[in-house]
Amino acid sequence: MNRIQVLCLSGSLRKVSYNTAVLHAVSRLVPAHVDAMFFEGMGELPLFNPDRDEEYIMEVAALRDAVKQSDGLIIACPEYAHGITGVMKNALDWLVSDMNFPELPVAFINTSPRAIHAQAALREVLTTMSANIIEDACVAVPLLGSDLDEGGIAKHPEISQLLIQAMKKFDEAIVMRREAR
Ligand SMILES: Cc1cc2nc3c(=O)[nH]c(=O)nc-3n(C[C@H](O)[C@H](O)[C@H](O)COP(=O)(O)O)c2cc1C
Repeated sequence: MNRIQVLCLSGSLRKVSYNTAVLHAVSRLVPAHVDAMFFEGMGELPLFNPDRDEEYIMEVAALRDAVKQSDGLIIACPEYAHGITGVMKNALDWLVSDMNFPELPVAFINTSPRAIHAQAALREVLTTMSANIIEDACVAVPLLGSDLDEGGIAKHPEISQLLIQAMKKFDEAIVMRREAR
């Protein structure tokens, strides 16, 4: 089977972020023919400015290249004051005019099931950007307040199963999309 590449975006810059940790755990749990890449430059992106949208900005080009090379996006974003983080919104704003973005399959991982506002906002933003949200691949896992790190998440009996199932669904949706093209 052809390899599939998915891109992970975390909306948190914290060193011990649950959202970053869950994405790293997911990269260990995806099906064998899937490569999960991590975009490390979220904190280096300049603040979005439409006047600079067409300009060559190395950090933005790196994000857009990573999106271009990927078959799907996995997004994990904390809730800040009932919204998505500025870090995530800023990255998404740089992708609004990106012609590779519309129809891209997207899965959300919510590390705090109480964070309903941020998830709703994320869904609204990505729907407006014409992303293809794969509902069966979106999952909420209760990590907030736990002492689980990347390794602990990947080994946790129930949480790892939820993530594996979600990633199977994501993979299936991506394969179906490829076959339909
Ligand atoms: C500035 C700030 C605002 C927050 N606002 C909310 C909120 O409105 N709702 C909520 O459920 N959690 C809120 N939290 C808690 C974070 O969502 C939570 O700590 C989350 O785990 C942070 O994600 P991270 O571990 O990936 O950095 C807030 C945290 C911070 C720092």
